[in-house]
Amino acid sequence: MEVKTSLLDNMIGVGDMVLLEPLSEDSFLENLKNRFDHSEIYTYIGSVVISMNPYRSLPIYTPDKVEEYRNRNFYELSPHIYALADEAYRSLRDQDKDQCILITGESGAGKTEASKLVMSYVAAVCGKGQEVNKVKEQLLQSNPVLEAFGNAKTVRNDNSSRFGKYMDIEFDFKGDPLGGVISNYLLEKSRVVKQPRGERNFHVFYQLLSGASDDTLKKLKLYRDFSKYNYLSLDSAVVNGLDDAANFRTVRNAMQIVGFMEDEVQSVLELVAAVLKLGNIEFKPESRCNGTDESRIKDKNDLKEMCELLGIEQSVLERAFSYRTVEAKMEKVSTTLNVAQAYYARDALAKNLYSRLFSWLVTRINESIKAQTKTRHKVMGVLDIYGFEIFEDGDNSFEQFIINYCNEKLQQIFIELTLREEQEEYVREGIEWTNIEYFNNAIICDLIENNQNGILAMLDEECLRPGTVTDETFLDKLNTVCAEHQHFESRLSKNSKFLNDHSLPHSCFRIQHYAGKVLYRVEGFVDKNNDLLYRDLSQAMYKANHSLIKQLFPEGNPAKVNLKRPPTAGFQFKASVGTLMRNLQTKNPNYIRCIKPNDKKASHIFTESLVRHQVRYLGLMENVRVRRAGYAFRQAYEPCLERYKMLCKRTWPHWRGPAREGVEVLMADLQVPAEEFSYGRSKIFIRNPRTLFFLEERRRQCLQDLATLIQKIYRGWKCRSQFLLLKQSQIVVAAWYRRYAQQKKYQRIKSATTVVQSYTRGWQARKLLRELKYQKRCEEAATTIAAYWHGTQARRELRRLKEEARRKHAVAVIWAYWQGLKVRREYRKYFRANAGKKIYDFTIQRILQKYFLGLKSTMPSMSPIDKNWPARPYLFLDGTHTELRRIFHLWRCKKYRSQFTEEKKAVYEEKLEASEIFKDKKALYPSSVSQPFKGDYLEISKNPKYQKLSSAMDEKVLLADVVNKINRANGKGTARIFLLTKKSVVLADQKTGQVKASVPLPDLTSVSVSTQSDGFFALKLKEGSASAVKGDFLLSSEHLIEIITKLHRIGATAADREQLNVDISDEFLVQFKQDKVCVKFIQGAPKNGNSVSCKRKNNRLLEVSVPSTA
Ligand SMILES: Nc1ncnc2c1ncn2[C@@H]1O[C@H](COP(=O)(O)OP(=O)(O)OP(=O)(O)O)[C@@H](O)[C@H]1O
Ligand SMILES: [Mg+2]
Repeated sequence: MEVKTSLLDNMIGVGDMVLLEPLSEDSFLENLKNRFDHSEIYTYIGSVVISMNPYRSLPIYTPDKVEEYRNRNFYELSPHIYALADEAYRSLRDQDKDQCILITGESGAGKTEASKLVMSYVAAVCGKGQEVNKVKEQLLQSNPVLEAFGNAKTVRNDNSSRFGKYMDIEFDFKGDPLGGVISNYLLEKSRVVKQPRGERNFHVFYQLLSGASDDTLKKLKLYRDFSKYNYLSLDSAVVNGLDDAANFRTVRNAMQIVGFMEDEVQSVLELVAAVLKLGNIEFKPESRCNGTDESRIKDKNDLKEMCELLGIEQSVLERAFSYRTVEAKMEKVSTTLNVAQAYYARDALAKNLYSRLFSWLVTRINESIKAQTKTRHKVMGVLDIYGFEIFEDGDNSFEQFIINYCNEKLQQIFIELTLREEQEEYVREGIEWTNIEYFNNAIICDLIENNQNGILAMLDEECLRPGTVTDETFLDKLNTVCAEHQHFESRLSKNSKFLNDHSLPHSCFRIQHYAGKVLYRVEGFVDKNNDLLYRDLSQAMYKANHSLIKQLFPEGNPAKVNLKRPPTAGFQFKASVGTLMRNLQTKNPNYIRCIKPNDKKASHIFTESLVRHQVRYLGLMENVRVRRAGYAFRQAYEPCLERYKMLCKRTWPHWRGPAREGVEVLMADLQVPAEEFSYGRSKIFIRNPRTLFFLEERRRQCLQDLATLIQKIYRGWKCRSQFLLLKQSQIVVAAWYRRYAQQKKYQRIKSATTVVQSYTRGWQARKLLRELKYQKRCEEAATTIAAYWHGTQARRELRRLKEEARRKHAVAVIWAYWQGLKVRREYRKYFRANAGKKIYDFTIQRILQKYFLGLKSTMPSMSPIDKNWPARPYLFLDGTHTELRRIFHLWRCKKYRSQFTEEKKAVYEEKLEASEIFKDKKALYPSSVSQPFKGDYLEISKNPKYQKLSSAMDEKVLLADVVNKINRANGKGTARIFLLTKKSVVLADQKTGQVKASVPLPDLTSVSVSTQSDGFFALKLKEGSASAVKGDFLLSSEHLIEIITKLHRIGATAADREQLNVDISDEFLVQFKQDKVCVKFIQGAPKNGNSVSCKRKNNRLLEVSVPSTA
């Protein structure tokens, strides 16, 4: 539910001054102070917002606040500048009414800040999108640029706007911003050349010198040091809390966003630099022969640099500072300038240069921010203009006069528009309009601006008049023309009333403005109004080779020499104020009146006299009076009824009928006097704030009662709910407890029952057991008796049956014999004597046939080593079966042998022979069976190492191997090549291949070997043969079996020799030269390893230890 709030809620003092009761200046100030002390800086006068400068940042401009005030009615929330901005924006968007926001107040009161707050609020609530955001950004960023060039630190404000500004923001039908137009009014250009004590020149000069890079400064021929420039006052060049360098960057950035080109920025900075340089040009007098003084430039360096910056010919400018040409009709008269005139000319040029630059900036910004589309726009104007300015010491000059004139005009349209609005509302609401007495300041405006005898017209007339014109002549004129005017006061006027008024000096005149009397000193009026710039200077400027300067001084164009005097400052201002007023009159005005609480720029200080002064000259009391002239307060029926319905029983809590009737019932019930209010069409109008406060007070009381009632009901409800809850809880607790108690009791009974039950059951069970045991014993006894009885019976029966069977068998045997006898006797005659033999033969034949056929299918493979043979089927075929197996094996072997080649056959024959010699005789034999007999292990014919040896052999080498020749002295072996041919055995050196011994085979008688697994063999030679001289050979070889077999074979095949004997024995004799040595083979211990060792034991014994094979 939306909470309806009102301005009247939580008010500190009164939020709307219209409700002030009693209304007096003191109560007005008291209310302002009260609110200011509570940080309520905004207060309304109807729809006008009074804004007090807090001089500190308050947390009331957050995005949340923007949301809070967005789309809320003006009086719904406490006073805020956002409420006004929202109201203006919504009526612009929804009701298509152009708006203007007029912000006034004295310097430092917060106008510029207020204008920025309004703009930022509108920017926050209006449409979004890339294009729209760009426009918003450009509009917002125009502020820093204009502030840099148009604002300065003054004694009243560190960021004082030294120009008036009016900005039209244009929106499309949806309320999205399209662009804007800025108008500027009367820049305080005198500040360029001179600043009062404690003040500074425009910010941009300081920003440029502090913030620009060294490079930029060098280009602009500037130094960073402020003291180098005459135009920059030094006493307050640095302002606390103002970072000029950072601001320079902000301004450059803002210029870029607004759309300034880089060369434009450069031109602008060049002009700023030129103004600084201009200030440094100084003059000295030079006497001429005619006795007059002529000015000369002291040091031309600055002039030179300035001319370089602006592209001006130095001599032209130099001449313009020394001479003045006056053109009248076709004549040209040139007069020299004295030093004072030269300084005047210099300053005039500086002021003009700067003020024209400022106007150009505004035009340039306008070019950037102007709306791109030509469709109809809605416009919101924001006017940030100097407020009424009164210097108490009477030092008010031409500027104050102009400013106050502007404010007078603003007051005029304020009154006009407020009254008009009021009147329109009365007509709209059907309420009778009673004429309101108020002060109309049109008469003061007339005094100033009247074309015939207005002060401005007089001033212009005086300025244009030929002859000597001074400020005094102007005052004289005023005294004669305006003396009769009731708002004009002068000591010298004919009006004798002021003749003795010493507060009014002779050189001054006083105007009774709507906001109070202001004393103006006439000094400088004529000069400032003339705003004279010598034509020579503007022509010199026009000749500059600088695009921007040329544009700024169009009147310097010699082709367009205009002899007419340029319009005066007063005239120009009047014209622009006239335009502004006409513009504002077409719009719906919204006012923000800014007030400065103290002169110290300090927060929390409320200087009453200062505020009182402002309240007076802002005409705020006048504001309130106008606003209260008819009815002080008005409110639509719905919110009114909603707010006060609790005051009447009939309207509380709900009123079903139309709101207006509800309000009528309410007012009647409250007995509010009829003259105190009127019923409009949609609003109720309350004449006196008293009545409103009466309603508010009643409402407050009623709310208290209602609060008590609500509290009462709430408390009752709370207690009852509490009680019910407790009760509910108690039931739950009791139920749980009972259950618990019953459970416990049940458990006890249950366990007792179980005990009793178990005893009973035990007793019963034991009784039953006893019975069952007795019964079982009885049954067992009965069974035993029955068994014995049945046994007896059965045995008896068995005996009887056996007897019977014996008898039956005897009968059967006797019967069979008898039958057989009878049959044989019967059938003997039918059998042939040889029938039995035939049957027998047939049976045998049949069995053999079956046997052979079976054998065919179960024959084993053709491999000779296959030991399989089918099992014998009949015992009587045992011999046949074995014979067949033998025959089959022989046949299989024959078949196998028939596949052999001759070589293979020889190999097998050799193997066979080896088997015959060694099988079961020497332990080495089994290991040799699987080794093929290779014969030539050394590949003697192919090996180049043995080529010589091979060629020495005249027979084919049957065996070549390396053997160990055992040394007869120590039993150690020496490697020798052992060659065997058909005719001899040759031993040769293994390394050299040299033949050591060659033994013809016939000289060999026998070979001795052991029965063990060693490779020792002794070649025994025929005694007496040539070979036997050295004795027998004791050799050892891995291929012993092969060597001996081959030797044996050769012996077997040779016809001329006896077969070689092979002795196999573990002890044999070897003839070594003369001695016979016994070689004995013993089984070696396993520790000796696998090698065979041979040792000479003594002269007659050589012991060979052979490792056991087990
Ligand atoms: N609403 C505000 N909240 C906080 N500070 C503020 C507010 N309004 C003004 N100020 C402070 O007061 C100073 C002066 O305000 P501002 O420049 O707006 O005055 P002004 O009325 O524009 O003066 P001038 O006529 O000299 O331009 C600001 O620089 C700021 O420090
Ligand atoms: Mg300002």
